[in-house]
Amino acid sequence: MPDEPIPSVADGADQAVAVANANEVAQLSDQSRGQIVQEKATCPFLGTAIATGNLAVRNDANNPVASIEDVRQLGNSGGGNLGDLLVFFARGNHAWMKGATGQLDQPAPEGLFSLELPGSQGSHPGHSAILEGDPTVPGSGRFSEADFQRLVDRARDGLVKRSAVGGFIAGNLLRDPGSKVFGLSVTGLLARDLGEFVAVTGPALMEKLTGSEESAETSHRELFEKLTKLTGEDNLVGSAGEFGLLFAFLANKPGAKKVDGEPTVSLEDLRAMFLDKRFPAGWDAWKKTTLDWVVNTTGLLMSAGKEYLRLKISDSVPS
Ligand code: HEM
Repeated sequence: MPDEPIPSVADGADQAVAVANANEVAQLSDQSRGQIVQEKATCPFLGTAIATGNLAVRNDANNPVASIEDVRQLGNSGGGNLGDLLVFFARGNHAWMKGATGQLDQPAPEGLFSLELPGSQGSHPGHSAILEGDPTVPGSGRFSEADFQRLVDRARDGLVKRSAVGGFIAGNLLRDPGSKVFGLSVTGLLARDLGEFVAVTGPALMEKLTGSEESAETSHRELFEKLTKLTGEDNLVGSAGEFGLLFAFLANKPGAKKVDGEPTVSLEDLRAMFLDKRFPAGWDAWKKTTLDWVVNTTGLLMSAGKEYLRLKISDSVPS
């Protein structure tokens, strides 16, 4: 089947029609779908969900949106509640779709979110650059082999420990002079400064989160609120939150391995989701939970924070 051309941004009247019909599932050629995955949906989960047909693209290829409820169901598959958190990200960061000007300045209709990730509020300085080129420019996604390799290099025996991903995040933040790390908003909510967080507050929180059911539940609730508030304001929390989602997504995969007491992600799963746009087999049958997100995001914040301070003191920016 010949590929349909991707229409250019229409004039105001056509655009209004596009928004009115925004909930309709778009009929896409493989090429158009591939372009959305590569250039717009620069997240290993959303890109994979679209590529595999698990998440329907709505409206049209030039201004793609998806249903918030569809994303909730994908995240809650297997009986967990991670989807409720995904709804928060979709609503909060991706409520604007392309308007007549070509900018992300048109509110997405109720129940929908925009799949234009670069250029959105969810894209930020200090990102890994694996999938995103310029976080401020819509449609600028592409796959960077070199940046993916920086993550792969941290694997041992095919597994990347959570603290190694933390080190990767720290490097990404230091490589980008525009990134904002542990500013006033964070110090007000989490700790006096990053040093205190990694040495005192973080470990105490981890102990509570992994302690008795009662203490875990209370800390989970409190920390969940703080972290969700801060993901958009601070690039360290934002990046830890994204990779926290990855760890939460894979935490209950049958056969998931720990190394030195830490959770890991396998190179096989990283390649599948970042590069091949495939989910690991059986992904929709295991539980994915917000508690796993809070625990892993806190763990990543500590390891990334430690490495960030170490590199800052030694004044080195990793390659
Ligand atoms: C379980 C579900 C999800 C997982 C496992 C996941 C995982 C990730 C990871 C690991 C990254 C970092 C990629 C990198 O730096 O190279 C990322 C980026 C991103 N994700 Fe997701 N994500 C999920 C759901 C979502 C949802 C529901 C949204 C919004 C609707 C979203 C929006 C984004 C955005 C905007 C970025 C790019 C941020 C940037 O690089 O600046 N993600 N995601």
